[in-house]
Amino acid sequence: MQVVRLAHETDFDGWRAAARRLRLAGVGPPDTLWTVDGQASLFAPSAVSEAGPEDGGAQTSTSAASFTAPRAFVDLAQRVVLHRSDERFALLYRLLWRLQDRPQLLQVASDPDVLLARQLSRDVDKAAHKMKAFVRFRGAYDDLGEAFVAWFEPAHRVAELTAPFFRTRFANTRWSILTPDVCVHWNLAELAFTPGADPADAPRADELEEFWKTYYASIFNPARLNTDAMTKEMPRRYWRNLPEAALIPELVANARSRTAEMVAKPATEPSRRVVKAAIRNSRDAPWEGLSATTLAEVAAGVDHCRRCDLWQDATQGVAGEGPGKARLMFVGEQPGDQEDLAGRPFVGPAGQVFDRAMAEAGVPRAETYVTNAVKHFKHVLRGKRRIHQTPTTREVGACRWWLDAERRIVRPRVIVAMGATAAHAVFGKVTPVSKVRGQALQLSDQAQAVVTYHPSYLLRLPDEDAKADAYAAFVHDLKLAWKLAA
Ligand code: URA
Repeated sequence: MQVVRLAHETDFDGWRAAARRLRLAGVGPPDTLWTVDGQASLFAPSAVSEAGPEDGGAQTSTSAASFTAPRAFVDLAQRVVLHRSDERFALLYRLLWRLQDRPQLLQVASDPDVLLARQLSRDVDKAAHKMKAFVRFRGAYDDLGEAFVAWFEPAHRVAELTAPFFRTRFANTRWSILTPDVCVHWNLAELAFTPGADPADAPRADELEEFWKTYYASIFNPARLNTDAMTKEMPRRYWRNLPEAALIPELVANARSRTAEMVAKPATEPSRRVVKAAIRNSRDAPWEGLSATTLAEVAAGVDHCRRCDLWQDATQGVAGEGPGKARLMFVGEQPGDQEDLAGRPFVGPAGQVFDRAMAEAGVPRAETYVTNAVKHFKHVLRGKRRIHQTPTTREVGACRWWLDAERRIVRPRVIVAMGATAAHAVFGKVTPVSKVRGQALQLSDQAQAVVTYHPSYLLRLPDEDAKADAYAAFVHDLKLAWKLAA
């Protein structure tokens, strides 16, 4: 029997080197015992087979002299190693061994080893997803000033896997995520990892917590309570570290009486237009039921929206803001870097151009409703910078659900579409800005529309004269829209 002692629980490199050695020496899975050295940590060098034959430790996947493992297997194995199952290293070695005779093995979905490995990999992905959703930072101070610290207990060992996500999302603050397995630290320049910690090492509460709880309680809709769906989305194992979870038992307990109170209130007649839209929505998207009927529901829905994949890389969904009955609605393209972090539309550089032009046109922003065609920030990472990417037609189409809800609720007299993406979303078809800019256009829902430039376009124009002309046209269009809305 060959006993392999791996250096730590996620020692993929150690497993790979040992697996290769054993495979080349013809030591089969039944003769191999995989253990983890309880004393070593992630920070120790990989330790491999106690009694295994040596071969110099080249990579499993690249050994020309002997065998290769497909890339898909290596990817799968890297996930599986993060699972808390004690079986994981033996399972992977069995699969590696069997792959030599059956290179297509991973495609045999009914094979018990393949099935199990895929299940473990899915569990790990799910744990990573939950970690991204449920880490709650609390304010703390150290010698360098304010930092944010979170305590989290992931279902599997996914702290390192998710670290780049948190680095991108919270690039501009110092933070640490403490877990029992490993702690992750971001100091504004690089990620660092230290050994696992104890809950007592993390701050227990901060002043933001009460705001967060108030917010959570206010978006909790008792009439929509579905405890099964809620616990599926927010499994109980995470509750003890979620401040808002303390409210759940009471909110659930009172849901029936609160719903009864809501039902007992005199009904208001929905307008025929709202009823028609609701029927259309429930037909077009029956999995979502009737769409939001208040802006608070839109905001909560946008943040949880999974109608396309853009939520995955964004900090949050950014719904529109402004009075619920604004006469004038502005639609931009999508939140930018700063909007994504702030959770509000048009607060970054494009927002400054917008604010300046609004002031020149005499349009009070506070009396208008400002939103975007797409509610999550689409971007690619270039170094540390998040570079804007134009949303696809499919993404704009998916997000129209929310823009339409905002239009139904706010019922503006005039909608200003800023840029091509906004025009596409407002009219439901490709609408070239150059052809229709600066005119009053009729929309099918009684509202009028004005199409104009996007403020970012004004920022990008290289030629100063062209920039001044476009800016003047933009101010003109804002004035026109305000006049039409009066
Ligand atoms: N650009 C947009 O289209 N919307 C914003 O909210 C910010 C920049």
